[in-house]
Amino acid sequence: MAIREILEVPDPRLKQVSKPVEVFDDALRTLVADMFDTMYDAPGIGLAAIQVGVPLRVLVIDLQPEDPDAEPQECTAHGGHSHTHRPTRKEPRVFINPVLTPVTEEQSVYSEGCLSVPDIYADVTRPARIHARWQDLDGTMHEAELDDLMATCLQHEMDHLEGILFIDHLSRLKRAMVLKKLEKIRRAA
Ligand code: NI
Repeated sequence: MAIREILEVPDPRLKQVSKPVEVFDDALRTLVADMFDTMYDAPGIGLAAIQVGVPLRVLVIDLQPEDPDAEPQECTAHGGHSHTHRPTRKEPRVFINPVLTPVTEEQSVYSEGCLSVPDIYADVTRPARIHARWQDLDGTMHEAELDDLMATCLQHEMDHLEGILFIDHLSRLKRAMVLKKLEKIRRAA
């Protein structure tokens, strides 16, 4: 297992359309394990294989929900004053060759970010509920109806497989502003 380099805009590889996985072998297992390592290290809640330069239809997601069974912990990380928060638990999900279909007209808006567009967040509107079909690491087919953050995250990651970034959903003006801001942040770093 290893942490891989995450491609960032404007790397042209992020515009590639990823190919279906046909062989469910050890190389695929290694890729997925590395993607989890890379995502947790970043840290992020979702990652597509193309973000580490591999043009295959593979996504990993972990929304890392709060753990209702864990003791709340004291935290002084934010500006010195202490507060308590619940530790999160890991809930790793792998989606191979996913196919998504909206099941409602209803839309939801989330402030999205992306490990390939660092430090930028913007509101994106997407279908609120989707039907998803995908394969796991053994090639077994699964399906489920998903909503809320999982629906948003899966659609965001799915876009990566088509070479689409969340900023591509913004108006041209807004996208130009966002890219300018990103350039500024990079120059300052
Ligand atoms: Ni992303």
